[in-house]
Amino acid sequence: MRTTVGIIGAGPAGLLLARLLHDAGIDSVVLESHDREYVEHRQRAGILEQGTADVLRAAGAGVRLDKEGLRHDGIELRYERRRHRVDFPGLTGGRSVTVYAQTEVCKDLIALQLADGGPLLFEAEALAVEGVEGERPRVRFRHAGAEDVLECSYVVGCDGFWGIARQAVPPEVSRTFERAYPFAWLGILADVPPSHDELVYARHDRGFALLSMRSPSVSRLYLQVPAGTDADDWTDDEIWDELDRRLETDDGWTLRRGPITQKSVTPMRSYVHEPMRHGRLFLAGDAAHIVPPTGAKGLNLAVGDVVTLARALAHEKETGSPELLDTYSADCLHRIWQAERFSYDMTTMLHRAPDADPFDSRLQLARLERIAGSRAASAELAEGYTGFSY
Ligand code: FAD
Ligand code: DHB
Repeated sequence: MRTTVGIIGAGPAGLLLARLLHDAGIDSVVLESHDREYVEHRQRAGILEQGTADVLRAAGAGVRLDKEGLRHDGIELRYERRRHRVDFPGLTGGRSVTVYAQTEVCKDLIALQLADGGPLLFEAEALAVEGVEGERPRVRFRHAGAEDVLECSYVVGCDGFWGIARQAVPPEVSRTFERAYPFAWLGILADVPPSHDELVYARHDRGFALLSMRSPSVSRLYLQVPAGTDADDWTDDEIWDELDRRLETDDGWTLRRGPITQKSVTPMRSYVHEPMRHGRLFLAGDAAHIVPPTGAKGLNLAVGDVVTLARALAHEKETGSPELLDTYSADCLHRIWQAERFSYDMTTMLHRAPDADPFDSRLQLARLERIAGSRAASAELAEGYTGFSY
C-alpha cells in the first residue's frame, strides 16, 4: 500500500489531519488500532476553544457542532463556599468556548472521512515506523490478521501518549520533559440536567471538584482522587456526597443527583517530547505532549498541531518548499509550552497535594482572590482558557 501521508491513530488529531489534507488535495491513509465503536464512544474532552470550533467548521465538521454545541461565555471559580465568575467575552474582546464532546467531534470527522476521504482502516495496528531518515518511510501494520506495509512520503504519529510512532525518534535526538502528579480525576457521566449553566471549578480543602456537562440533560463531573484509585472503590452515593461537600456554597446552591451511567479514572501528567519532527516523521497531539486536564487544553492542542502541519504540507505541495515543515516543531512548541504553563497553573491552584501545608493552602487562596479582585489576572485566565492563537 502506498500514500503521501501515512497517519497513525484516528483520535481527533489523526481524523482532522486526514480531513485537512483531503481539502488540500493531499492523499493519506489512516491506521487505527481500535474499532469504530471504541473510537466513537471513548469519553474524554468536552470543551472546544473558539479557534478549534472555527477549524472544525471550516473543515466541514460544523453542522452538528452548531446545532448541539453549547456556547459558554464564562466559568465559575468556587472556593471558601463562595463563587466568582470569569466573563470570557468581556475580558478577551469577544471570545468564548463551546461544550461539544470529543466523542461527537470524532463521529463527525469519521462520517466525513468515510463519505469521500482516503482510506480509514479500523483494527489496523501500527507495529513500527521505519526509514524516517530517508526518502521513503514505512509503517508496518497488522490488519485483518495479516501484516502489511504502508509506504509513504511522510508519516505522522497521531497515536496518543501510548503509541509507537515516538519510538522511531532515536534516543540521542529525543528530549522529554515530564511532571507526574500524585492525584487523578474520577470522572462520571450522569443522566441529570447540569446544576449550573456554566462550568464550575472548585478548590476545597478535601480536593478539587469540577462540574461540567455534555448536554442540557447530561452532567459530567470530576473529583480529585489519589493517583492509583480504582473507579469501583467509590459507590455512586459516595461520589455524590463528596461532590456535594466540595461544591457547597453559602448561598443555598444545590447539586442535582441522577443515575451515573459511566465512571472512570484519569491519571494526570505534564509531558513534552522535543522535537516534534525527525526526518520524515512528524508527531502531533498526545503523541508529542500531555497536559493535566484542568483547563481543557489537550484536544485543542492536538487541533493546533494538525492545522500547523496541514498548512506546512500544503505549502510544500504548492511551492516545493519545505520551509514550513522545517519550522513545524518550533512553531508548535511555542504554543504548547504556553498551554503546559496554563494547565500547570490551573492544576496547582485548584488541587490539594498530599503533602500540602497551610502555607500552600493560603497561597492557593491568594491566587484565587487575585483573579477575583483583578481584571488583569482574570483576563490572563480568560485568554488562556479560550485559547492561544496559532
Ligand atoms: P488520542 O485521542 O489518544 O488518539 C490516539 C489514537 O491512536 C487512538 O484512537 C488510539 O487507539 C490510536 N493508536 C494508538 N496506538 C496505535 C497504533 N500502534 N496503531 C494504530 N493506532 C493507534 N482535552 C481538551 O481539549 N478539553 C477537555 O475538556 C479535555 N478533557 C479531558 C478529560 C479526560 C477525562 C481526558 C482523559 C482527556 C481530556 N482531554 C481534554 C484531553 C484530550 O482528550 C486528548 O488530548 C485528545 O484525545 C488528544 O487527541 P489525539 O488524537 O492526539 O490522541
Ligand atoms: C471537561 C474536561 C476538562 O478537563 C475541563 O477542564 C473542563 C471540562 C469535560 O470533560 O467536560
